[in-house]
Amino acid sequence: MSRKGRWRPLLTSEVARRILEGGRRVSLDLGLSRVTVDVEADRVVLPEGSVVRFADLRRIADRENAVFFPEDDALYMVAISDEHFYKLVPTEGAPTLEVDGIRMHRTKEVTPDADARKKIMVLGVRGGRVLDTCAGLGYTAQAALGWGAGLVVSVELSPEVLRIAEVNPWSRGLFEDRRIHLLLGDAYIVLDALPRGFFNYVVHDPPRLPLAGRLYSQEFYAKMFRVLRDGGRLFHYTGEPGSRRRGIDLRRGVARRLGQIGFENVIYHPEVRGVTCEKPRRR
Ligand SMILES: C[S@@+](CC[C@H](N)C(=O)[O-])C[C@H]1O[C@@H](n2cnc3c(N)ncnc32)[C@H](O)[C@@H]1O
Repeated sequence: MSRKGRWRPLLTSEVARRILEGGRRVSLDLGLSRVTVDVEADRVVLPEGSVVRFADLRRIADRENAVFFPEDDALYMVAISDEHFYKLVPTEGAPTLEVDGIRMHRTKEVTPDADARKKIMVLGVRGGRVLDTCAGLGYTAQAALGWGAGLVVSVELSPEVLRIAEVNPWSRGLFEDRRIHLLLGDAYIVLDALPRGFFNYVVHDPPRLPLAGRLYSQEFYAKMFRVLRDGGRLFHYTGEPGSRRRGIDLRRGVARRLGQIGFENVIYHPEVRGVTCEKPRRR
């Protein structure tokens, strides 16, 4: 199957309600574009030929936090259940990914795509090579291209996350844009295989500290330092733990470890909940 063949029409509660209420122009790619659907007695025919019964649309009309796709006369949720439960969740913009109920992106006050663009803006990407340590749904990688990066190496640990990304229209660039090189693996290990001083920028957007402690360790910071060129910049999402006190402690710990490795100008950016810093130029 060609890459393009993988993209399926996607239905959300909002789209289901719209069709049931008589709307014919709807988005089947989570808001990126609109198409016209054909309605017959008790079913709707989507432009690529799949047919969805009104009974199925009624079933999903109340399911706000899920995305569905039609296959073989039935609707399936975009989700994977194995050791963990992965689910695509619609937002006002790009969808987020929930893993065991925890959202991988900010969805309050900002959409995941806008947040990714802000992270890259704060990092100050202007062309050059970018390492994206935690690909997720590929929003930071694609945002880096949007800010002029010539090449992005993007690393993702979880094959399940990438399978979800494969059906997410907002992740297309991750698979289709030749400037993005996607690697499946543990960033903690993969970084050792990347060339020293190769990247102008590193965007480090890990899960929260309790879920990925090693990605907040001094050892990992040293690995990011090694692959950055002199004068290269790092953005590190640190998040905002429950209490203010814990947030300050976390940021202090991150800043101290970054400083011990040799990073300079560690600055916290509250709007993106992360720090930027620089690898010094050799004097
Ligand atoms: C907050 S999300 C990243 C969001 C991403 N930047 C985006 O734009 O969609 C964190 C991601 O890191 C992945 N991850 C966790 N541990 C990792 C590791 N050791 N190496 C690489 N990726 C990891 C998770 O599977 C998850 O997809």
